[in-house]
Amino acid sequence: MRIIAFYSPKGGVGKTAAAVNMAYLASRENISTLLWDLDPQGAASFYLAGAEVVKGRKLSKLLEGKSPIARFIHDDVYPNLDFIPAHSSFRNFDIKLEHDEGHNVLKDLLAPLSEDTSLVVLDCPPTLSRLTEQVLEMADKVYVPVVPTWLSLNSWNQLREFVKDKKLGNKKLRPFFSMVDRRKNLHREILAQPAELLGAPVNAAVPYASVVERMGEEGQPLELLAPNSPAAVEFRKLWVSVRKDLWAR
Ligand SMILES: Nc1ncnc2c1ncn2[C@@H]1O[C@H](COP(=O)(O)OP(=O)(O)OP(=O)(O)O)[C@@H](O)[C@H]1O
Ligand SMILES: [Mg+2]
Repeated sequence: MRIIAFYSPKGGVGKTAAAVNMAYLASRENISTLLWDLDPQGAASFYLAGAEVVKGRKLSKLLEGKSPIARFIHDDVYPNLDFIPAHSSFRNFDIKLEHDEGHNVLKDLLAPLSEDTSLVVLDCPPTLSRLTEQVLEMADKVYVPVVPTWLSLNSWNQLREFVKDKKLGNKKLRPFFSMVDRRKNLHREILAQPAELLGAPVNAAVPYASVVERMGEEGQPLELLAPNSPAAVEFRKLWVSVRKDLWAR
């Protein structure tokens, strides 16, 4: 079982859109995938299956060991794609985790799923908290949307420093460009020299596109909603790089 996370300390940069699209693209290749929405705002539900979705369950039962993680999973939202929806109690995750200093609770929670699940995709909230520290520690790779602006680059560099300081494994961070608007000089300038500016290769540049916003309204991954759109093409590129990162194929 491989575990990937979509994370940035910056809000509204495209983490959830990418997490849902990657989980869906994985499931289409017969990879048994679990998407876990760790953000109490619960946006992933909307992108994945629209407003009719899927109520989450209170976290305390899971953390107290009273309910196994399987009880929190909605099976086959799409074929090969299971989903753990968020619940407003997820905002208390950090308080709960404080009592488990030095012990990766998330990793233990996911362990029973390892036989049936090939890929876990974690959609993280935009906070730098105990929860995100645990995610950064246990994920095989962490994908970080970077909008091509100086502020976003700054956040990226801060994240790298943080991961390095805490010895969480800075080789696991994978940036990709998000919400790219090539009409803007600054965006073009930054896109022209990604390796220099980010200190890492960048394998996809998702354009700013209203069709991505429509994922939330229609409740569908982009591959279903608009597979021929330039944004869908970039998400597929990102998926190919994820697959290479995880399975070298
Ligand atoms: N490439 C894009 N083009 C246009 N709009 C986008 C794009 N990606 C995301 N959006 C829109 O921007 C908003 C934020 O996107 P998303 O929820 O994916 O970001 P996030 O980083 O997960 O946000 P949060 O930090 O709140 O969890 C949403 O309304 C979404 O529809
Ligand atoms: Mg989000």
